[in-house]
Amino acid sequence: MDYENKLVLAPMVRVGTLPLRLLAAQYGADITYGEEIIDHKFVKCERRINDSVGSIDFVEKGTESVVFRTCHAERNRVVFQLGTSDAVRALSAAQIVCKDVAAVDINMGCPKAFSVGGGMGAALLSKPELIHDILTTLKRNLDTPVTCKIRLLKSPQDTVELARQIEKTGVSALAVHGRKVPDRPKDPAKWNEIADVVAALSIPVIANGDVCDYGDFQRIKISTGASSVMVARGALWNASMFSPSGKLPWEDVKREYLRKSILWDNDVKSTKQTLREMIIHYSCLELPEGKGVNNSETLADLAQLYGEEKYYQFVSKNRWLMNGYR
Ligand code: FNR
Repeated sequence: MDYENKLVLAPMVRVGTLPLRLLAAQYGADITYGEEIIDHKFVKCERRINDSVGSIDFVEKGTESVVFRTCHAERNRVVFQLGTSDAVRALSAAQIVCKDVAAVDINMGCPKAFSVGGGMGAALLSKPELIHDILTTLKRNLDTPVTCKIRLLKSPQDTVELARQIEKTGVSALAVHGRKVPDRPKDPAKWNEIADVVAALSIPVIANGDVCDYGDFQRIKISTGASSVMVARGALWNASMFSPSGKLPWEDVKREYLRKSILWDNDVKSTKQTLREMIIHYSCLELPEGKGVNNSETLADLAQLYGEEKYYQFVSKNRWLMNGYR
């Protein structure tokens, strides 16, 4: 896995499932992260080939719910992101999936109470020994590249110091979200503090925060010195932002997203959440479209809402045929 000069789809809980990852890649993303999955949950999963959909599924034993779905087409660019607070459990989880993904990443930035309360996400930022333990355990035992994603610490010196310690564990790259733990998404990302990390490290740094248009890729690269850039919200709202030829109308991107959701039989909750995020950004959930998405219970309902019934029926009948082309 080469981390230089890459455009990267960020990890996004609930929405970063297979259809959004494939959509981003279709428009030009080189690396696509999956949503964060907690190790406690993933260690209960088993790998299954899903011949009907043409996917590789990781299914929670007992509940039969698909926790992670991937496919051969994304094998060399998909990054599996883990939420963890324990090296041994992280390794057990990573070993289940590592042969089917391009890299394994540890989330060290999530500020949500659920993560921090469980000692995961941003809670790790104040525990450099635990970070060292988790990353070196994964490095020693996996052939797959290992990376992590952090937020900025209180001072630029603290961030650089932590980044240097992370680099020493042998990780292949470090993604830096240019916000501090208490910052809100509307607070501007501090590209200058990402630049301090880039200047201090030899491994590739992936700069993240406030990139919404293709032109922003160049701006953040120049500002930070990072050669790779990661995007979350900009890509969620309109995944065609990865395209050098400019953004497509969001109506077209949304339709393409829905078709991919149908083709890959995505979890309807994930598809609804992604459509909702797009609608909130471009329109309003109180209008008929938003209400229609909220009231939909199945992918068939969504297909009907967007006039894609024929496509839905075609895929349902011909999945076995389409598998051959994937
Ligand atoms: C996120 N983010 C996030 N980060 C992470 O490491 N793991 C995750 O699962 C998630 N989930 C998530 C969901 C959603 C809906 C959003 C909007 C964000 C944070 C994300 O990867 C990124 O670091 C920030 O959003 C900053 O990038 P942008 O949005 O300014 O491009």
